[in-house]
Amino acid sequence: MINNTIAPQTYLAHPNHNHLREFFQALFQAPFSHDIAAEAAACFGKYPLPMADFPRVRGAYSRTILYRADNKFEALAARWSKGYTTVIHGHPDFLFDYIVDGDLAVQNFALLDGKLQKTVARRYRTGEHFSVSGREGAFANGIHQVTVLKESLSLHIYSDNALLGRVFDEQDDHVDRP
Ligand SMILES: [Fe+2]
Repeated sequence: MINNTIAPQTYLAHPNHNHLREFFQALFQAPFSHDIAAEAAACFGKYPLPMADFPRVRGAYSRTILYRADNKFEALAARWSKGYTTVIHGHPDFLFDYIVDGDLAVQNFALLDGKLQKTVARRYRTGEHFSVSGREGAFANGIHQVTVLKESLSLHIYSDNALLGRVFDEQDDHVDRP
């Protein structure tokens, strides 16, 4: 099911994923009263999702919204095509990324005196995950660029609409999303 009002190539979860909807509904009710990353990692490890459940977008990636809470927290799945590289981008204050199946190279960046600088580069494979707790109200937290080393499926939790994340260009200046 395509919902072009959210963004191109964004889909809504299949009813088969209702168990995840219920999990996220409970998880997002009091988001900062417990360890979201630990609880989500435990859940995702217990209920592995097949990559074939999610749409394949050749040469890019698809986003499937699994749940959106009234407090803006959202969970989505991303199915990535091998060889795709994202723009350099930031996120809302909380993000959690979990690799269900795949191999992603992540180059992290920091903004120092308004300039973008490379920091840690890491690979994340099946079952691995990371989270960032940054500055509330900002959309330049956890700045990174992702390169897809093999077709991958990942699950993501954000404290706000992920599409609001800031995009950066190669000259280290921030640019608005088109
Ligand atoms: Fe990201």
